[in-house]
Amino acid sequence: MTNSPIDPVSSDSATIEALLFEDRRFPPPAAFKAASLASGNELYDAADKDLESFWADQAAELLTWSRNWDTVLEWDLPFAKWFVGGQLNVSENCLDRHVEAGKGDKVAFHWEGEPGDTRTITYAELLDEVCRFANVLKDLGVRKGDRVNIYMPMIPELAVAMLACTRIGAPHSVVFGGFSADALADRINDAQAKVLITADGGWRRGAAVPLKINADVALVDTPSIEHVVVVRRTGTDVHMETGRDQWYHDLMSMVSADCPPEPMDSEDLLYLLYTSGTTAKPKGIMHTTGGYLTQVAFTHKYVFDLKPETDIYWCAADIGWVTGHSYIVYGPLANGATSVMYEGTPDHPGKDRFWDIIERYKVTILYTAPTAIRTFMKWGVQEPERHDLSSLRLLGSVGEPINPEAWMWYHEHIGGSRCPIVDTWWQTETGAMMIAPLPGSTTLKPGSATFPLPGIGAELVDDQGARVENGGGYLTLTQPWPSMLRGIYGDPERYRETYWSRFPGRYFAGDGAKLDDDGYLWLLGRVDDVMNVSGHRVSTTEVESALVDHQKVAEAAVVGAKDETTGQAIVAFVTLKGDQKASDELGQELRGHVAKKIGAISRPRTIVFTEDLPKTRSGKIMRRLLRDVAEGRDLGDTTTLADASVVEEIRRRADAAPQED
Ligand code: WT7
Repeated sequence: MTNSPIDPVSSDSATIEALLFEDRRFPPPAAFKAASLASGNELYDAADKDLESFWADQAAELLTWSRNWDTVLEWDLPFAKWFVGGQLNVSENCLDRHVEAGKGDKVAFHWEGEPGDTRTITYAELLDEVCRFANVLKDLGVRKGDRVNIYMPMIPELAVAMLACTRIGAPHSVVFGGFSADALADRINDAQAKVLITADGGWRRGAAVPLKINADVALVDTPSIEHVVVVRRTGTDVHMETGRDQWYHDLMSMVSADCPPEPMDSEDLLYLLYTSGTTAKPKGIMHTTGGYLTQVAFTHKYVFDLKPETDIYWCAADIGWVTGHSYIVYGPLANGATSVMYEGTPDHPGKDRFWDIIERYKVTILYTAPTAIRTFMKWGVQEPERHDLSSLRLLGSVGEPINPEAWMWYHEHIGGSRCPIVDTWWQTETGAMMIAPLPGSTTLKPGSATFPLPGIGAELVDDQGARVENGGGYLTLTQPWPSMLRGIYGDPERYRETYWSRFPGRYFAGDGAKLDDDGYLWLLGRVDDVMNVSGHRVSTTEVESALVDHQKVAEAAVVGAKDETTGQAIVAFVTLKGDQKASDELGQELRGHVAKKIGAISRPRTIVFTEDLPKTRSGKIMRRLLRDVAEGRDLGDTTTLADASVVEEIRRRADAAPQED
C-alpha cells in the first residue's frame, strides 16, 4: 500500500475540494507500448498544431466518403457543423467497404443469448441482412428523414435495424429495453416516429422480458406509428394487431438483398437518443453523420489500440445506451473489428458468466462499467479465478468514476496485472470518448481518466468561471468536437440553456473534477451530488473511494443529509465483500479509515450497511433516493447495522422510482 494520508488544504471558497491522494503509477508495459498504435505524442502534437486539419485527417483516413467536404468546421457557438458538404453512408462505412476489401468472411459479431444459444455473423452476412431489412423499411413507407423507433433486447436484429435505418437515411431512436411503456410512448411521440421495431421479448436473468406487451400499452397513445415489426426471440405468445403488426421473419422472406446505400450529408441526423433528467421531460439528443462516425471510429481505434485482425473486442454495455451505440455498433463496425455481443445479465446462470464468455471467445479487450466491477468484487475472486482470462490484453471502464481500489481489483484479478486500463469519460451528449488515456502512451494512475484525448479541449473552472489549474472545479469543454450533440430535438433554446449558459463560451457537462500536480484529471461525480460539510465542498466520489479502499468494502454510496451543526453530514451506505460481516466495530473502523485517508472533515456521521444499492438500469447509483432515506429517518449518529427496514425502504423506493438513465 503506497497511499499516504494528506492534510486537506481547505479553503472555504473552493468549488470542490481535492482530498484523495493517489501515488501509484502504471506506465504502459514495454511490450504493449512497442506494439501499440500510438506510443508517443504524435496524435496530441498534430491536434495541438491544427485542430481542424487533425480531425480532417482522421475523417479522411478512417472513413470512406462519396463526396468530399468543402469546409471542415462551421462554428457558430453553440451550433457546430463538421465536414460541411461531405457525403457518406454509415452502413456502407460499417459493412460494404469491408466486404469489398475481401473481409466478407470475417466475423462481425460472436453473439451469445442468455440461455446459451449462439450466432456467428460475418460482415457479408450482416450486410445481406441489413440490405434486406432496409428494403423492408422502404416497403413499409419509410423515407429518408423519417424517424424509426427501436425497442429491442440485445440480439443481432437490433444492430441490423439500426444499420438498416442508416442505409436509407432514416434516423433511429433506440429506447432501452428496460424502459417502461410510458417512457417508450413519450419518446415515440417526441420523435413522431412512423415505425416501431420490437421483439416478443428478451431474456434477462432467466425470464422473458415482455417487450411486445409493453409496446402494445405504449402504442395506445402513439398515433404517429403506422407499422410495427416484431422479431421472434422468446417465443412468448403475443398479440399481433392486424394491419399494423408484422413478423420480422415474414417480411424478410419477401425482399431482395439489393439496396444501394443512400448518400447522406455529413450533417444529416443519424439518430436521437433520449437522456432523462430526474424530473424534466427527456431530452432527445441529436447526433449527426460524418463528425459522429469520425470520432467514434477514431476513439475506438486508438483508445482500445485496436488490431482488427487479431482482437476479439467485447463491450458489455447495452445497445440501448450511448455506450452501445458508439462502441458496440458504430465504432467497432466502422473499424472492421470482431466483437462479442451478449444478451443477458452477468449472474446467469452463474456469477462467472462474463469470465466464461471471455475464456470461450478468447476476448482480448473488455469494456465495462465500475458498477459491474464493484459487483464482481462483492461476488469474490473465486469467480474469475475459475477461468482462463489470459487472452485479455486491455481493459476499459465507463459510466461513473472508478474508485482506485476497484481499478486495482480490475487490474489484478481480471487483467492479471498485465493489462492497461482505459478509464473513459464521456456522455450521451458528447457521443464519443473525450477524456481517456492512450494505453501505449499514457502512464496511468488508478482512478484517473488522465487527459483529454487529442483534439479535445477540457478545462476546470470555479463558481465564477475562472480557470482552475490545480484542485477541484467544474469540468467544461472549451472547443467544438466532431461527435458533439447538435442539439435537443425540437428545442434549440433548451440546448443553449442546458449546456452553454452556466459558463459563457463553454460547454458545461454537469460533472466536477480535479486536476492534480501532474495535470491528471480526476472525475468527482455530478456537481449536484457535492456535499457541503461545515463549509467544505466534499465530493461523494472521494469519500466513496476512501471507503472502497478498505479491504472489506466492495461498494459505497455517500450522500449529504441535513445536519443542524454541520449543514450537511455524510451518510454512507456500504456493501461489504461476500465473506464479510457487518458490525458496530467495523462501522467505527470505516469512519476512522475515511478520516485517515482523506481527512477528518470527511468522516461519515453514519454508516449504513446494506446488501445492495439502488441503481438505474445503466448502473448509476441513485443518490437522490438515498438522500431521501437519509433525511427522512433518524439514522443515528454512528453506525446502523444492516437495518432491514432501511434496506427495504431503499429497495421499495428504487423499485417504485421511474427508471432514469
Ligand atoms: C455521465 C454521462 C458515457 C457513456 C455512459 C454514460 C458519468 C461517464 C465516466 C467516467 C467518471 C463518468 C459522468 C457523465 N461518467 N463516464 N469514466 N468517469 N464519470 O453516459 O448516461 O450520458 O452519463 O456519466 O457523470 O456526465 P450518460
